[in-house]
Amino acid sequence: MDIRSYNRQAWDRQVAEKSPWTIPVDSAAVEAARRGDWRIILTPTKPVPKDWFGDLADCDLLCLASGGGQQGPILAAAGARVTVYDNSPAQLAQDRLVSEREGLELSTVEGDMRDLGVFSDSSFDLIVHPVANCFVPDLEPVWREAHRVLRPGGSLLSGMMNPVYFCFDFELAEKGEVEIRYKLPYSDTTSLDGATFKRYRKRGLPMEFSHTLTDQIAGQIKAGFVLEGFYEDDFGPDIEDPIDGYMPTMMATRAVKPRHF
Ligand SMILES: C[S@@+](CC[C@H](N)C(=O)[O-])C[C@H]1O[C@@H](n2cnc3c(N)ncnc32)[C@H](O)[C@@H]1O
Repeated sequence: MDIRSYNRQAWDRQVAEKSPWTIPVDSAAVEAARRGDWRIILTPTKPVPKDWFGDLADCDLLCLASGGGQQGPILAAAGARVTVYDNSPAQLAQDRLVSEREGLELSTVEGDMRDLGVFSDSSFDLIVHPVANCFVPDLEPVWREAHRVLRPGGSLLSGMMNPVYFCFDFELAEKGEVEIRYKLPYSDTTSLDGATFKRYRKRGLPMEFSHTLTDQIAGQIKAGFVLEGFYEDDFGPDIEDPIDGYMPTMMATRAVKPRHF
């Protein structure tokens, strides 16, 4: 199965179905950001701490796998030079919709988060990477490429899933029930039984993969980053997810590329 191509279509469908991760920000949020009043998320609810960003003036910022007209337009209104990079043309169209509506300068590039070959080394001061790495089977190229395109001293702000979340039965969780079913590492492509996999495909759900904490945390360190910030989060009150009651299901890290690189 060509995961990138399948997930491109799946995310285009998420846009058509108005999933919460595809709804662009409104004019009021952009206006407030222009006045310096802004916040963005990497995980569903907690705003990213302001001291994770540094000065956005004169900042080349990559929104990595971050289409949907959410983080990119706010950060552009706050003063950064923003490039939004995503695998879904429909998600990128949401960013263009907001930037054209609000007169913001923002560019969009379609591509795979594991291959940032369209950007030269040391192109960006900051990368904002909301929860999205669960849509690729392999993380090592994501951290390696992010490190390569960042300037020394630059930061990578990433959201990610707690891998334990993938142990639970997703269809039962949608009905409010909590049951441990799957062993880690989990993959939609190999962990599900045939009938369940068929139902997922029929619904056009994006294919997801668990990643160990070693791959998420030690993987960033191995790529050359120093971790300087961490917090946990969950789906919050607006998205019903019964697993929220048991554990924080997501986390975020601030990783810095040392200046001596
Ligand atoms: C949960 S959404 C995150 C974006 C959203 N703006 C947010 O606030 O969370 C996941 C994004 O990852 C993108 N994506 C999935 N697979 C990708 C890949 N291989 N390369 C780049 N982007 C990918 C999807 O198209 C989607 O826009």
